[in-house]
Amino acid sequence: MVLPASEMTELTGRAPWWRSAVIYQVYIRSFADADGDGVGDIAGIRSRLGYVADLGVDAVWINPWYPSPMRDAGYDVSDFRAIEPSFGTLADAEAMIRDAHDLGLRILLDIVPNHLSDQHPWFAQALSAGPGSRERSRFIFRDGRGVEGHLPPNDWKSGFGGSAWTRVAEADGRPGQWYLHLFTPEQPDLNWISADVREEFDETMRFWFDLGVDGFRIDVAHGLVKADGLPDVGATAWPPLSAHPVDHPHWDRDEVHEIYRAWRSLADAYDDPRVFVAEAWVHNPERLARYVRADELHTAFNFDFLTSPWQADELRASIQTSLRAHESVGAPPTWVLSNHDTVREVSRYARPQDVRGVRTLNDLIDLPADFDAGRRRARAAALLMLALPGGAYIYQGEELGLAEVEDLPDDVLRDPGWEQSGRTDRGRDGCRVPIPWSGDAPPFGFIPDNAPAVPWLPQPASWRELTVQAQTGADGSTLELYRRALAIRRMRPELGDGTLTWLEAPAGALAFRREWPFICIVNVSADPVPPPQGARPLLSSDALTSDGRVPPDVAAWFLR
Ligand code: GLC
Repeated sequence: MVLPASEMTELTGRAPWWRSAVIYQVYIRSFADADGDGVGDIAGIRSRLGYVADLGVDAVWINPWYPSPMRDAGYDVSDFRAIEPSFGTLADAEAMIRDAHDLGLRILLDIVPNHLSDQHPWFAQALSAGPGSRERSRFIFRDGRGVEGHLPPNDWKSGFGGSAWTRVAEADGRPGQWYLHLFTPEQPDLNWISADVREEFDETMRFWFDLGVDGFRIDVAHGLVKADGLPDVGATAWPPLSAHPVDHPHWDRDEVHEIYRAWRSLADAYDDPRVFVAEAWVHNPERLARYVRADELHTAFNFDFLTSPWQADELRASIQTSLRAHESVGAPPTWVLSNHDTVREVSRYARPQDVRGVRTLNDLIDLPADFDAGRRRARAAALLMLALPGGAYIYQGEELGLAEVEDLPDDVLRDPGWEQSGRTDRGRDGCRVPIPWSGDAPPFGFIPDNAPAVPWLPQPASWRELTVQAQTGADGSTLELYRRALAIRRMRPELGDGTLTWLEAPAGALAFRREWPFICIVNVSADPVPPPQGARPLLSSDALTSDGRVPPDVAAWFLR
């Protein structure tokens, strides 16, 4: 019997790389702009790969770079096997992947299987082929309810506001069927019962894998399958986490798992097996663990951790439940503090910490904010995350301690939720502002000197203190904190895959041990807590007290 390559790696005694990987998320539009049009691009990523490698991470995940009308910042894909011209060419992509590999970095792309752009050729074909056609069966078209079908087929809502259905005109110009879009109307949902859809994605994955791509982040991995008969949901279909019951008609249906089993065999067929990470907003860690069973996806983002308030009991419970759930299926957890959809953690932790769950900018903006506390907590959370068993994700700019930009002028907001909500939901642009690299004023090196363009979202002048240049070598900077923590993690594989042992800790603090002998203490209380007896401090997110105790909102690593 020939063992799959993934298991062979395990037999050679070395755990597969992804079980403890730290992965850096590059939001391509806002990372680095080499051609000077104000929007990031592939040449920009390529020029900054040295920075990413020096940071000490193992891989990079790049948000969608495919041709797109950019209704949803690239998550509306019009061709899955090409490059958006404003980002570069396929040759640029290949060169970038080669350079990354030369630097020891793996590359994960973003695959968007739940929907495509209404500008994808399939959608025009579906419209002209008409009801009942094979072309329409790739999407979810239905007749409307009510007199002459003037009402949507059911009560499902779009994630960006309003109904999840849009009615089309048929060939004779008369109002006709409706199509489903769980996001914007320009993002029609695909029908995963259709063999065409399945084949298209298999081919797409092989296309990128054959170019050397090491894996995919799967967008809306929990949404692909819709319940038979498309029953009413009976309440708002959003927010996606915690609020909905397990048996939801379009989120986290058990039938999605069969798709991922097939994807896993496709990825395992490569000599250097390719890997997946699921974006699955599900009810609880137990439901999440179903996505990472041995014959399914490798890893999944841990949004339960991301949405935990800064409270010792909540954090500990989230960590413990996640560890237990992942352990039950033999998968490593991955920890994450932010991404391009969530409010940056400095700004979340600056707010009162009495609520668990997803909090959007609209939920937070009017609450009292203590940004100094937010900054300290975010740094402490980073050391906590990097000390936990498994892998971790770092969202570009997190290592610089960037906060959400909460005061973007109305007229620059691009997130589709802004218009779709009637200009009430300020959306996610505040965490997508281009990265400050160098210099004293915008564009902070994001755009080459002398380019006439400005960054597609304006950067705050206060970022002059947070540029990569300003923080490099600066004692106490967040960038140097991340670099040191990642360097230690690199030297000590014990900090990756594995288990932890909780230690007794004063109320309001977390303390745990990893192999090596390594101890992490996180102080979430209002008073300093003592270090473990006989322990030597290794790294702390902010200075310890003069007598060696861990101050409030500080995490510290010790050796004993
Ligand atoms: C995912 C993406 C998000 C996008 C949505 C629709 O949640 O992370 O940015 O808007 O899917 O594709």
